[in-house]
Amino acid sequence: MRVQFNLFRLRLASRAITIILVTWITSTSYAANQRDFTAILAQGKQVFADNCAGCHQLNGSGLRPIFPPLQHSVIVAGPAKINIQRILNGKPGTPMQAFKDQLSDADIAAVITYERYTWGKKSSAKALITPQSVNTERHTELKSRRGFK
Ligand code: HEC
Repeated sequence: MRVQFNLFRLRLASRAITIILVTWITSTSYAANQRDFTAILAQGKQVFADNCAGCHQLNGSGLRPIFPPLQHSVIVAGPAKINIQRILNGKPGTPMQAFKDQLSDADIAAVITYERYTWGKKSSAKALITPQSVNTERHTELKSRRGFK
């Protein structure tokens, strides 16, 4: 009887410890991710100010009719791939130049993360864009732009 009771307490205690540990580990890694995300947004804001705001303006409102606002952009709110491609390769024949030879993967990832987080509206646009995904797009030719001219 006594042994059983102690065993029960032991199991309860170990379960409590597990819960505490798991909570602690997930909350610290969440805090670390949040810190990273904040730092990347700050980096992206700087890259934007240095390279994009001249045309799109610091608040993303653009200068109509030549420089489009980013708030209403379907590209900024749309699939990340298309957005990355537009920054890497620009849009030939318009003032939107290619940035692939101007900016690193990390800077392009940061500026797109910032741009989508700030103006993308949809929550799907608010995810972190990684330098790896920029690098993948560097080596991918977009065959179909699926309605994104
Ligand atoms: C010299 C002016 C200029 C600069 C600098 C510039 N852009 Fe653009 N951008 C344009 C123009 C013009 C367009 C519209 C091109 C078109 O589709 O006709 C455009 C289009 C875009 C679009 C697509 C908008 C849409 O809905 O079609 C995005 C996103 C964008 N720019 C982001 C950026 C980012 C990020 C930077 C900096 C890394 C940047 N631009 C720098 C002029 C500029």
